[in-house]
Amino acid sequence: MTKHVYVAREADENGEIHYSDHEHETWSILIKRQKEAIKGRACEEYLKGIEILDFPEDRIPRWQDINEKLEKATGWGVEPVAAVIPALDFFNLLANKKFPAASFIRIREELDYLEEPDLFHELFGHCPLLTNQAYADFMERYAKVALKVSAKQRNQLFRLFWFTIEFGLIKTSEGLKIFGGGILSSFEETLYALESKVPERQPLEPLTALRTPFRIDIKQPVYFILENINQLYSVLDDEIFNLMDKAKELGDFPPKFEPKPKKKNLENKESGYAY
Ligand SMILES: [Fe+2]
Repeated sequence: MTKHVYVAREADENGEIHYSDHEHETWSILIKRQKEAIKGRACEEYLKGIEILDFPEDRIPRWQDINEKLEKATGWGVEPVAAVIPALDFFNLLANKKFPAASFIRIREELDYLEEPDLFHELFGHCPLLTNQAYADFMERYAKVALKVSAKQRNQLFRLFWFTIEFGLIKTSEGLKIFGGGILSSFEETLYALESKVPERQPLEPLTALRTPFRIDIKQPVYFILENINQLYSVLDDEIFNLMDKAKELGDFPPKFEPKPKKKNLENKESGYAY
């Protein structure tokens, strides 16, 4: 099957992006299924954000409505962009409290999995936690650190983002819960991340995460666990630059997965960014 090429959706003069009934229905299928799957599995901070954003279940939310609520909660906004944008544009948006989000929605044939993030991943996976100050501050700080370092170091730093913002778990008084947007927007991985016996789960040690390679197109073989949401900010304190040097010195751990042909593995090259 030829790979579907997704095209960014442009807003009209009023900032409105128009979607077809078929696309609204795709959103509806995804959100109804995922809201069931996250019950009892997503962390409290995320569920609070879902309540605040109050996404419609019958149509793709209006971007303006999400921005109004995010602005009120943490001063953040979400910015519709093309699928993959240049790294510096990406980090400049984040550093200015704008979360870049793909503006297209996946096709039905890719309902369960697509390699590049679509608006369901961005809006449902990430935006609820952008109502949380600790998460929002981490995002901003992450971007500011990324703008200070080299492209190679940005790749290294991305591992921290990957194992927290995308695939992080968090410790709570009610046991382990899901924090990462890459998990919370995927039906299969929402079940797998907490219940499968296959993956490893270990407390988040920034140095260890910086030395852990990952693959983007499989269910993760290892998850890192945050002690609490405020641990996020301490991950990026001034020590981070020394930790990156040390991680480079010590080298990577052996991968916990089969290697993929180079071109599919996002990790080794910095072209554009999309999360
Ligand atoms: Fe993401």
